[in-house]
Amino acid sequence: MSGQVKTIPTKPFSGQKPGTSGLRKKVKVFQQEHYTENFVQAIFTAMPGGSQGKTLVLGGDGRYFSPEAAQIILKIGAANGISKFILGQNALLSTPAVSALIRSLKTDGGILLTASHNPGGPDEDFGIKFNISNGGPAPEEVTNGIYKVTETITEYKIAELPDLDLSKTGDFELGPLKITIVDPVSNYLSLLKEIFDFDLISSWLHNTTPKPTVLFDALNGVTGPYGHAIFVETLGLPESSVQQCVPMSDFGGSHPDPNLTYAHALVERVEKENIEFGAASDGDGDRNMIYGKGAFVTPSDSVAIIADWAEKAIPYFKGGIKGLARSMPTSGAIDIVAKAKGLEVFEVPTGWKFFGNLMDAGRLSICGEESFGTGSDHIREKDGVWAIVAWMSILAAANKEQPGAGINDVLLKHWKKYGRSFFSRYDYEGCESEGAEAMMDHLRKVFASSDFAGSTLKATSSDASFKVASADDFAYTDPIDGSVSTKQGLYIKFEDGSRIIFRLSGTGSSGATVRLYVEKYSQNESEYGLDAQVGLKPLIEVALSISKLQEYTKRDKPNVIT
Ligand code: G6P
Ligand code: ZN
Repeated sequence: MSGQVKTIPTKPFSGQKPGTSGLRKKVKVFQQEHYTENFVQAIFTAMPGGSQGKTLVLGGDGRYFSPEAAQIILKIGAANGISKFILGQNALLSTPAVSALIRSLKTDGGILLTASHNPGGPDEDFGIKFNISNGGPAPEEVTNGIYKVTETITEYKIAELPDLDLSKTGDFELGPLKITIVDPVSNYLSLLKEIFDFDLISSWLHNTTPKPTVLFDALNGVTGPYGHAIFVETLGLPESSVQQCVPMSDFGGSHPDPNLTYAHALVERVEKENIEFGAASDGDGDRNMIYGKGAFVTPSDSVAIIADWAEKAIPYFKGGIKGLARSMPTSGAIDIVAKAKGLEVFEVPTGWKFFGNLMDAGRLSICGEESFGTGSDHIREKDGVWAIVAWMSILAAANKEQPGAGINDVLLKHWKKYGRSFFSRYDYEGCESEGAEAMMDHLRKVFASSDFAGSTLKATSSDASFKVASADDFAYTDPIDGSVSTKQGLYIKFEDGSRIIFRLSGTGSSGATVRLYVEKYSQNESEYGLDAQVGLKPLIEVALSISKLQEYTKRDKPNVIT
């Protein structure tokens, strides 16, 4: 077939507005006639500089509907003048691997087929996300442009081409398109080998007595082959040190999100087998959880500790760190490290895209979010596997100073040096949108009353009380391009430095998810060993009563606590 271009008449679908992480909807929505085609055409129409002659990376987390979507993208891409696609074999590429490929091959961007940590399968979620030439998610002006096209679209162009065999690597031609299909792992693994000292990690793993045990869990997501290549093939660990490492289109029917609730298979094996170092990643490989026997590292502590050790343990940072950053709800643990090191630290709204500008401007090296995202300026996405190898590097370096040191020793040492930020997040998933919005409006009204700042809020089951220092809707002015983002979460700061934050999730595909974040800083060594839920109980009580959460959402318990 020559690749003759057909013009297909279509009508707009409402709600094709890409969120922070692309367009995410149920598979059944994407399967409607013309639905996926419309959105893909809108990407090509709205991409910066147009689509003619462009080269794009294409791949994703392997979820249900990915191969079908990949074929559609190739054919619509061909009809829109794209000259080349670089695909991962079987359309598999982790989100960080796409970012790395865009950057190392200097392509014009990439299209990711993923709904990240959301479940997959015929009745679950699918997603399409566009990344630009710096390797990061498209900024709002681009996603708004895509949305605008979807609202008025009347036709799309598609080339008559056979389906491409996605299973073979190599160089191919498909009508007017040049195609390269790459092994999903090799480019990314080479990048990690430039960043980290794998000999140092290997020597910790093989020359320590007793030998530390390791378990990596890919939660049946895309990082399975990456984990196998790193833990088994590169570091020489046994097959038993990886689990759920074959990518499945429905993630084995579970939720591929690395937290204490959804990564329970990892937590159980770590505890039962006394495993020193456990780690998991999400469906598309940009999130991570670090969990060793009896030791859960909160993402907020994780990024602070990586920042603290980076120059010592990770060759990539030996030349120095440019700056640090966190999202607003993430605890201030990293701020304290920044202060001690005399580094700039940024507080940005939730969403990885806010870090990209700072990195491109050379002001940010390491950053993280409480939502299990950690990363650095080696790419423009958060990077789960990077964070896991960073932690192994830290343990290897810590063992040089204190033989036998494990995750708990690293945590305790950090808290003794800097104090501990207790942090927890409560998620109320699947709430009615109306009730959730009403609760946020109620809080805005409370904040607006002139005597709220300075007032004292009391816990319900103890006489603990907290004096309000300030309360507001978080707004951010990007220091690089001056763009302003408002309504990024409601926060109350107390005089003792504690915080309560309310946000509505921006990543769900239906209903509303209320997130409640609480943080309390302590420099009292006798508290460092406390369970976060115990240390935070009074603040949580204050948060529930001031927000009237139960009344507005009709929920008496969160679904997930992290
Ligand atoms: C995605 C983004 C993260 C962000 C998270 C917030 O994972 O990549 O940068 O932190 O969404 O999700 P939420 O559901 O809280 O809006
Ligand atoms: Zn993800």
